[in-house]
This record gives sequence, C-alpha cells and structure tokens, in this order.
Amino acid sequence: MTHFFAPDRCETPEFTVRCYQPGDGRMLQEAANASYEHLRTFMLWAKPEFTWEEQEARVRRFCGLYLTNEDFVLGIFTPDNTRLMGGTGYHLRGHSLDDETAEIGMWISAQDAGKGLGTRVLKALLHWGFTAWPWQRIEWKCDTRNIASASVARKAGMQLEATFRQDVPLPDGTRRDTHLFSMLRDEYTGSQSR
Ligand SMILES: CC(C)(COP(=O)(O)OP(=O)(O)OC[C@H]1O[C@@H](n2cnc3c(N)ncnc32)[C@H](O)[C@@H]1OP(=O)(O)O)[C@@H](O)C(=O)NCCC(=O)NCCS
Repeated sequence: MTHFFAPDRCETPEFTVRCYQPGDGRMLQEAANASYEHLRTFMLWAKPEFTWEEQEARVRRFCGLYLTNEDFVLGIFTPDNTRLMGGTGYHLRGHSLDDETAEIGMWISAQDAGKGLGTRVLKALLHWGFTAWPWQRIEWKCDTRNIASASVARKAGMQLEATFRQDVPLPDGTRRDTHLFSMLRDEYTGSQSR
C-alpha cells in the first residue's frame, strides 16, 4: 500500500472509538488505575498505580505509531469525551499493513464491564474494520480461561478457528493456552446481505 491514511474515529450514540491524542493521559490513568483488580489477571501491562506522566507518554507513543501506520491503538471514550471506558485497537502484531490482517485487543474499565459494552464495541470494530479499513481478516486472541473474552468474540459472530497449546509464557513461569477467533471480510459482507 503506497499511501494509507488511517481513519481516526468511529462514533456511535453510546461511545466514540478514536486514536489517542496528547492530553488523553489523565483519562487513561484514571480508568486504568480504577480498573487494576479487574484487569490484572489477563492484562499483563496492568499495575496498581500508573502516574499521569507514564500514561501521557503512552498515549503520545500510541499517537505516533498510529500516524506512521505501525500500530492502531484506540481508546473507547464517552461521546462527550470526558471519560475513557476502555481501550482497544487493530494490531498488526508482526504483519505488514499489506497483509490486511489485524488483531483486535480490548479492555473495558471495571465500572463499564459486564454490561454488554465489550460486545457492542467489538461489533462496531468489525463493521468499521471491514468497511473503512483494508482488513480482509480480523483476529481475536484470548487466554482459554478468559470466559468473558471468548464470550464477547462468539457473541460478535467471530469463529473459533484454533486453540494454541501453551503458546504464551507468563510472568509466573507457567504457559497459557490461547483461543484464536477470526472473521473474514467475505463472511462479514455475507452476514450483512442475509
Ligand atoms: C473481556 C472484556 C473485554 C469483555 O467486555 P465486557 O463489556 O465486560 O463484556 P460483555 O458485557 O459484552 O460480555 C461479557 C460476557 O462474558 C460473561 N462473563 C463475564 N465475566 C465472566 C466470568 N467471570 N465467567 C463467565 N462469564 C463471564 C458475561 O456473562 C457476558 O456473557 P453473556 O452476555 O453471554 O452473559 C472485559 O470484561 C475486560 O476488559 N476484561 C479484562 C481485560 C480482558 O480480559 N480483556 C480481554 C483480553 S483478550
């Protein structure tokens, strides 16, 4: 792809998914710190107390990588842009943009989790990804013990394609099994025309 200018936002009445901007660090700090207990099992980056500066540095890094098409990290904001409800993104994870394959990752803040938001955001990202982005294949990976994550993928219509055994080493020295879910552009288009 000679030139690709990534779309920067997807707006719905309930949430806006958009790339991070300088100044978003405070909202990320508040959401991540308040969600530590909820995130710590499956989000290896979680820690009890992020400083504002750490999170501001992260959002600026995310912003830079977005503009250079290296990684598309997105925040899930309230429509009035006053609170971060979670994070998501289309990740290349070693693929080049020309492969047209992205992996969606996601976390929903403790205060917003368990209310169907993750499922609605994933559905919106599948729609956006297959209509405004070049993706031919979208993946979702989760620890096989992460029941909520697997449930969100299934409810959004993704297919369980494989389970990798002990493919990810964990900090405690054990290894986790991973479910790979996917959806193809053709499947998405077909499901819309039925
Ligand atoms: C996984 C996550 C993104 C899902 O988002 P969410 O908004 O909470 O999800 P939803 O409310 O749309 O759906 C959650 C589903 O999981 C189920 N669920 C939630 N927690 C569960 C648990 N501990 N055990 C079994 N099922 C659970 C819910 O019942 C619901 O299924 P249902 O609608 O069939 O009842 C969110 O919970 C989260 O951020 N978790 C921590 C970070 C994480 O694990 N991210 C994913 C990494 S792959």
